Amino acid sequence: MELKKIVDPIQLFKKWLSEAEKKEIRDPNAMQLATVSKNGMPSVRTVLLKDIINGNFVFYTNYESRKSEEISETAKGAICFYWKSLNRQVRLVGNIQKVSSEISDKYYKSRSKGSRIGAWASKQSKELESRKVLMEEVKLFEAKYNDDIPRPSFWGGFALKPVEFEFWEDGDFRLHDRFILRPTKIKNKWIAKRHYP
Ligand SMILES: Cc1cc2nc3c(=O)[nH]c(=O)nc-3n(C[C@H](O)[C@H](O)[C@H](O)COP(=O)(O)O)c2cc1C
Repeated sequence: MELKKIVDPIQLFKKWLSEAEKKEIRDPNAMQLATVSKNGMPSVRTVLLKDIINGNFVFYTNYESRKSEEISETAKGAICFYWKSLNRQVRLVGNIQKVSSEISDKYYKSRSKGSRIGAWASKQSKELESRKVLMEEVKLFEAKYNDDIPRPSFWGGFALKPVEFEFWEDGDFRLHDRFILRPTKIKNKWIAKRHYP
């Protein structure tokens, strides 16, 4: 890959994502999100990238889940995208904050009825006695709300503001091409440096 020394990583990321959208069988926006507890223990899971707002990577989740507890403890995270069809990887490290309730409301309203009910029914990351209990919760909330389902206060978005990016592309003989990008004082302009694979 040819990369200029000064790069806008968001533009490059969007280009790679749009190429992945044409090739990946499903969920090109799936990303592995790592968080860390106050004791320094990391945990990782897949979530979906739903938006990029002012260069911040936005995903939605239950605010009482394990990831959310860890985010409230340390406000730090890392993200990794791997697109098998392109053999490309993008890594990000950054600080995480909740998005505004307006942004969460707007996204919540765009979700299907089933997903909106699901957000109410799932006490994400808590122990669940049986699948039946979950389905009963779903029925309960379906009966409670018709089409006008408010967003639960315990459900919404987070935004990771990157402090570092890495773009990685497969090369022959495992001699992959890696660039690490760090911000400059100029908005949207990051310095890219090639690293050993
Ligand atoms: C493809 C895929 C997409 C997912 N997207 C989300 C998501 O956007 N938000 C979410 O809360 N969980 C999502 N999940 C479920 C999470 O991986 C995880 O099981 C859940 O959020 C609980 O994680 P936690 O207990 O570490 O908080 C997704 C799982 C997969 C496999």
